[in-house]
Order: sequence, then C-alpha cells, then structure tokens
Amino acid sequence: MTVSTAKLELEFTQGPQLEKTLLLIKPDAVRKHRTGEILRRLEEAGFVVTGLRMQRLSKDEAERFYAIHREKDFFEGLVEFVTSGPLVAVRLEADDARARVRGFIGVTDPARAAPGSIRSDFGTSIRENAVHASNPEEDVERELNQFFPDTEK
Ligand code: CMP
Repeated sequence: MTVSTAKLELEFTQGPQLEKTLLLIKPDAVRKHRTGEILRRLEEAGFVVTGLRMQRLSKDEAERFYAIHREKDFFEGLVEFVTSGPLVAVRLEADDARARVRGFIGVTDPARAAPGSIRSDFGTSIRENAVHASNPEEDVERELNQFFPDTEK
C-alpha cells in the first residue's frame, strides 16, 4: 500500500474532517440577553465552543472585518450597528462546521430565514440579524484570526 492510499483510507474511516469556524453574536442579540440561549442551541446541535471573547469593536476593526462589503450602500449603517455595543465572538469546532453553521443560523434576512433558525427566532431586520457566521467561500481563516489570533491553521 502506498503512503497516499493509506492516507485516503484513514480519512475515509475517520469520516468528515473537524473544521473550525467563527460565529459572532451581534450587539442586538447581546443587548437582548440572547447570548446564553444562542450558545446553548449551538452546543445542543453538536458544535463545540473552543473560543469565546466579548469585545466592542472599534470603527477600524469593524471596517476591516466587513471589508468585503465596503462598496455596498448598507456598509456605513452596518459598521455603526456592529460597533454600537459589545459582541461575542465564538470559535466553533465540528464536522463540516463551516457549511453546517450557515444552515443553522438561516439566511441573512430574518423574515426569510427558516423557522427555528437563530436569525428567524432572534433577528429583527436584515441589518440587526442577531448573528454572523463566516462564509466558507470567503476568508474564514482571516475572520477567525481577527478574534482568535492564536488559532492554528
Ligand atoms: P452578516 O452575515 O454579518 O454579513 C453582512 C451583514 O450586513 C449582514 O449580516 C447584515 O447584518 C448586513 N446586511 C446585509 N444586507 C443588508 C441590507 N440589505 N441592508 C442592511 N444591512 C444588510
């Protein structure tokens, strides 16, 4: 058996890879005392919390975090909202965590998010939508590193 065959077999028998991802509990949800309930639901769904940090972002930090939206007409309002109070950054670990957490929180607009999803239950508008989760097609490592610089790759 070649080395690469052995590696493939090991991956097959171990199942999907453990992944890390970032979730933010945004200032609206923190203000409404939803932090504990959101963490409880995540843990109940099998996500393991491996990092937790409460922080109020500066304007610079918020603009850096959401740089991908800099040209959008909602950018200024988004930065104002996300710096309006403390948020809670959560590092999560699970099999297939990056895709799975996106389903778990629901789509951006709470009015269109699936019933029972975090945004459907706790979001109140497309801006104040309770949580953010890293988009797997964008820069998960950069987002994780902004809050948890000690996260190994
Ligand atoms: P999030 O997943 O954190 O990514 C970008 C954020 O911008 C989004 O959640 C919302 O909070 C906000 N957002 C996205 N679209 C709009 C919009 N059309 N109007 C206002 N805010 C928006």
